[in-house]
Amino acid sequence: MKIIETVKEMQGIADDLRRAGKKIGFVPTMGYLHEGHLALVRKAREISDTVVVSIFVNPTQFGPTEDLDRYPRDFERDRSLLEAEKTDIIFFPDARQMYPERYATYVQVRGLEDFLCGRTRKGHFIGVATVVTKLFNIVKPHYAVFGQKDFQQLKVIERMIKDLNMDLEIIPYPTVREKDGLAMSSRNTYLNPQERERALLIHESIKKVTELFKNGIRDASILKEKAREVLLSKDGLDIEYITIADTETLEDIEIIKDKALYAVACRAGKTRLIDNTILMED
Ligand code: PAJ
Repeated sequence: MKIIETVKEMQGIADDLRRAGKKIGFVPTMGYLHEGHLALVRKAREISDTVVVSIFVNPTQFGPTEDLDRYPRDFERDRSLLEAEKTDIIFFPDARQMYPERYATYVQVRGLEDFLCGRTRKGHFIGVATVVTKLFNIVKPHYAVFGQKDFQQLKVIERMIKDLNMDLEIIPYPTVREKDGLAMSSRNTYLNPQERERALLIHESIKKVTELFKNGIRDASILKEKAREVLLSKDGLDIEYITIADTETLEDIEIIKDKALYAVACRAGKTRLIDNTILMED
């Protein structure tokens, strides 16, 4: 396994691989890897000849009051986890490599950023679209695997690929959960035992909404109200949003026809947690 820290070297390797006819599979991450990330790496391993994983805590996607400085980092641990998954290359640039002096170019995917997390995390998806575009230009992948846990991010990237004619395929991957249902996230490490317990209410709300949907309830306001009751039960969570939305446009839906996204963002203490599921008739 190679660890590459410069853009130039990574681009050179990508060119050589492409010239040799190798399919490059890519998993962009911010590190502090868990089973969710590793499942994406396994998927990339399955469909490509060379697997590249990037580890870069991207400053442009964090707001001024967000957790950039305290975002968890442990490169040695990540390195051994990736080695065990037969990763070929870790691309591990620093912020100066990615955003040198006089950096000025940003990518904005309009519309999709107006909903869900985009409402409170102003500029977040510009940071994501920008860094992912840069990473694609550096790693030159044929395939890039993204988790459905960050559903809005996945939709933003899919839109961007189409709009900018980027020549690669985006592979979505289902959310990986802890045994008790909590969606895996690097940020779960911030939770104290009481917050960890309360965080489970998010999965409880998914189960509740899914059950009601299966029982024929299609009115989004009823589903959201029931979700709210679950999220506020026990000591409850601070709710940022509860949404039933169109799976492509992410616009709010009032009455569900065939399918919809149920998505939530909450805080347990200071820790922001998101989760979602697709409600769909069998
Ligand atoms: P990060 O949060 O590290 O996530 C990297 C990838 O892992 C994303 O595609 C994310 O959706 C996926 N992922 C995270 N938790 C998951 C889970 N429980 N199950 C399945 N997939 C999961 O997302 C980012 O980093 C950044 O925004 C990035 C795309 C790297 C751009 O900076």
